[in-house]
Amino acid sequence: MTPDLAAFLDKLYAEGQEFDAEQPDRLDRRRNLESESAALLRSLIYGISPKSVLELGTSNGYSTIWMADVVNLTTVDNDPERSLDAAANLRAAGVEEKVQRIVADGATVLADSADEQWDFIFLDAEQSLYVNWWPDLQ
Ligand SMILES: C[S@@+](CC[C@H](N)C(=O)[O-])C[C@H]1O[C@@H](n2cnc3c(N)ncnc32)[C@H](O)[C@@H]1O
Repeated sequence: MTPDLAAFLDKLYAEGQEFDAEQPDRLDRRRNLESESAALLRSLIYGISPKSVLELGTSNGYSTIWMADVVNLTTVDNDPERSLDAAANLRAAGVEEKVQRIVADGATVLADSADEQWDFIFLDAEQSLYVNWWPDLQ
């Protein structure tokens, strides 16, 4: 990762922490991945070199940018405003062309995906939903 991208991600993470601290409702928070977890995710993807990667839960694009540093990917969020924030951040990070951004319910995207379409799926939406998503994750 270039020093510029690392600095951009540090700034985005710090802004997210400040923003989240002022949101009483958990669902209004950006809830960016911890930076250590994001770095681990990036390393994992770098090591596996999956051909197709799907992220469910874009938020403002923080984890998306970490992954886009090493792979092209598709990311999905059901909140249009968050996805627009992500678009701006992906552009600012210089990874916009590596990411297909979709505004949709993750359940629909999974149900509409062909068998074995995705080599790697990063689930980061609402944990309570995953049990119902499971049949389309197998
Ligand atoms: C924990 S945040 C994702 C954080 C992001 N991966 C990051 O590290 O910056 C969860 C996101 O999932 C989205 N979400 C919640 N339910 C969803 C659903 N059914 N389909 C798609 N996205 C969903 C929310 O709008 C929110 O932006």
